[in-house]
Amino acid sequence: MAKNYQFYINGEWRESRSKESISILSPYLHEEIGRVQAISQDEVDEAINGAKLAQKEWAQLSVRARGAYLYRWVDELLAMKNEIAQSIMEEVGKTFNDAVKEVDRTADFIQYTIEEATHMQGESMWGENFPGGNRSKIAMTNRVPLGVILAISPFNYPVNLSAAKIAPSLIVGNSVIFKPATQGAISGVKMIEALHKAGLPKGVLNLVTGRGSVIGDYLVEHPDIDMISFTGGTVTGQHIAKISNMIPLVMELGGKDPAIVREDADLVFASKQIISGAYSYSGQRCTAIKRVLVNETVADELVSLLKEEIESLTVGSPEENNIIVPLIDDKSADFVQGLIDDALTKEATLVVGNKREGNLIYPTLLDNVTTNMRIAWEEPFGPVLPIIRVKSDKEAITLANASKFGLQASVFTKDINKAFTIAPQIEAGSVQINGRTERGPDHFPFIGIKGSGMGTQGIRRSIEAMTREKVTIINIYE
Ligand code: NAP
Ligand code: G3H
Repeated sequence: MAKNYQFYINGEWRESRSKESISILSPYLHEEIGRVQAISQDEVDEAINGAKLAQKEWAQLSVRARGAYLYRWVDELLAMKNEIAQSIMEEVGKTFNDAVKEVDRTADFIQYTIEEATHMQGESMWGENFPGGNRSKIAMTNRVPLGVILAISPFNYPVNLSAAKIAPSLIVGNSVIFKPATQGAISGVKMIEALHKAGLPKGVLNLVTGRGSVIGDYLVEHPDIDMISFTGGTVTGQHIAKISNMIPLVMELGGKDPAIVREDADLVFASKQIISGAYSYSGQRCTAIKRVLVNETVADELVSLLKEEIESLTVGSPEENNIIVPLIDDKSADFVQGLIDDALTKEATLVVGNKREGNLIYPTLLDNVTTNMRIAWEEPFGPVLPIIRVKSDKEAITLANASKFGLQASVFTKDINKAFTIAPQIEAGSVQINGRTERGPDHFPFIGIKGSGMGTQGIRRSIEAMTREKVTIINIYE
């Protein structure tokens, strides 16, 4: 019988008083791998209350003392690496190798976070610098925690993107209510088991599980939540932004990252980057390349190179480390298939793919995609890539910016001057020159604009987002 995973509140593992649990099905084993608690609103209240009380003492510890707990968390995570990786693989269908990398990346992230916070200092300002020159006033600013942070994470990086909220929150003295994606909650439970083993004081982190559609609004609207760090789809993010209580929000949302390929690009190199950017983990990355805007003079050659690369992609179970794996569920596969069907009905050219076995969609490349097709604009979160042929850089930039999203973009060119002319014109948080779109290294600022989010992530920026400045002013009198 599949294991019933408990939720974590005030240092204890518990079953919900609701007696309700949610079945977690593996996207490729197609069987139940466990059940997680569907907790009640009373239990949400209890978790938030506990976190609120615990935060006061936690904030009193020095950054180094808090860091010592987090260093122990790193040790425990690494000790559980294979178990957690197995759970990530079974729960969200990521290859075992990538799941192991996710745990290692998480350990590095937490370690860097501790180091960064330890080296952050306040600043002082002198009154005399302002017109009028008041020498008797000196301001000292430092950063203080916000209180209780609500960390809501998505399914696709259930451990890394959760730790990317939890570690910066904790190191600066906040407490955390962690709400993992339901498909991802078992991996979330395991990473918190590691934190529990590290001896984190009671209530400093409480893990609440349950469907976002059931407890999500209650969490978001709760008066004792002081900040929300959310990663997930744009529709969910916009909803949260509308209903939350005038508290700071950081939102990492969807994307439609374009790869702009100029006529002077190294096409062999660009094609390899595009394939890895678009198809790894079956395209279930916020930063996946989700459209190619290629100059028409080199489009045939690029398409032929991409086709060759796609034909060598392995397809199947994540247990065998295939590149293309089943999507997270049937609904997602239906959505991707709908985008492909719409494009083919409107006369896109099928270069390769459009084959499906249940929730496994084979890598699909569509050429001659036009702006009346849904795939030109919508985020598939699956292994399908549209090629849009353009006549000029100007047209590529216009199409790139016509998207409602603005996460990242890639520009492939051998002309560095052109690259630096194009990059500032693109409406995106980051522009990669001659490289695939991707988040890491994780201390780089990571920004989504327009429908891709608000606020900045990246270790230092996350720490800043989870604190506020506090000013103490000395008035010198003689
Ligand atoms: P999602 O469906 O929006 O879910 C994200 C999280 O929100 C889950 O924990 C979900 O819980 C929760 N949730 C749902 N409704 C809620 C509500 N009313 N209030 C509070 N929380 C609620 O997204 P997903 O399918 O997990 O992830 C895929 C999407 O995330 C893609 O669009 C991708 O681009 C985006 N993403 C963005 C980034 C980035 O950094 N920009 C990174 C990764 C993913 P349940 O699971 O219980 O529904
Ligand atoms: O899915 C969103 C992740 O933040 C993407 O990270 O670019 O390292 O795959 P990645």
